[in-house]
Amino acid sequence: MDSSRQLLQAENLTKRYVVKSSLFKKEYFQALSEVSFSVEKNQIVGLVGESGSGKSTVGKIILNLIKADSGKVYLLGKDITNNLSKEDRKKISIIFQDPRTSLNPRFKIKDILEEPLIVHKYPKSDRKDSVLKTIKSVGLDETFLDRYPHELSGGQRQRVAIARAIILDPILVVADEPTSALDVSVQLQIIQLIKQLKEEKGISFIFISHDLNIVGHIADYIVVLYKGKIVEKGNKEEVIKNPLHPYTKLLLESLPPSHPKYRKPFVNVKEDINTYEGCEFIGNGKIK
Ligand SMILES: Nc1ncnc2c1ncn2[C@@H]1O[C@H](COP(=O)(O)OP(=O)(O)OP(=O)(O)O)[C@@H](O)[C@H]1O
Ligand SMILES: [Mg+2]
Repeated sequence: MDSSRQLLQAENLTKRYVVKSSLFKKEYFQALSEVSFSVEKNQIVGLVGESGSGKSTVGKIILNLIKADSGKVYLLGKDITNNLSKEDRKKISIIFQDPRTSLNPRFKIKDILEEPLIVHKYPKSDRKDSVLKTIKSVGLDETFLDRYPHELSGGQRQRVAIARAIILDPILVVADEPTSALDVSVQLQIIQLIKQLKEEKGISFIFISHDLNIVGHIADYIVVLYKGKIVEKGNKEEVIKNPLHPYTKLLLESLPPSHPKYRKPFVNVKEDINTYEGCEFIGNGKIK
């Protein structure tokens, strides 16, 4: 890969959570094993896998919200593992699944948007302009600024969450299931907005979802996680049209028939068993 296009590299991220702890013994759950992938400038990387596969854990490690046990995260070539400076924190942000809980209900929208600017000590004169410009860039107008989150629809609230995530002009946004709590029609609008922000502002995204159908709509590059391990990664076209791993095939088979161009005839997921010796998904020659 052309190194001048590299924005973020995750290298061999490994994470165990302590699930039980007593005086003499700790029990662990292996949430991630040696997860490596890169994000290029102006690229949407879809991180897909079923519930519990470790997607949010990857996002939280990148944002330094939790620590990895081992592995490294590089932003523009700089090691930011467990050590994100205030300046670098401006460059990456996160959008969560449910804007009802991620937006403070006691703040007006203008205060929600201004908060990161205050934290990063932007002069008062610039803050108002920046709030106005940003609310417009997510497709809302200034009349929303004096409202509270509960006075907005789910889709509008998620637009505000996106506005807050981009107000400091980040270069990368981790969007953790940003459309899962929304109706299908609203999901598509939010996907359009994210694509538009990539095109117009050059922001890269890590788009986390359990739904390969949605990821196929939005991502340029796809990383498939299964039980904390990457089972497949590649450009969108390659992964969707010619999935190599049986788990990816299974995810594709569960797509609704509304996307015939991406649907493949039924594939026997056991066919490639020999190629995937030691794979968690396949086990000892048996699909688990
Ligand atoms: N703080 C924690 N302590 C113990 N186990 C945890 C903790 N956080 C996550 N886990 C476990 O680690 C695994 C991966 O969790 P993670 O939240 O990364 O999954 P996910 O792929 O984001 O799932 P979902 O699609 O449901 O959001 C899960 O089995 C989860 O129960
Ligand atoms: Mg999650």
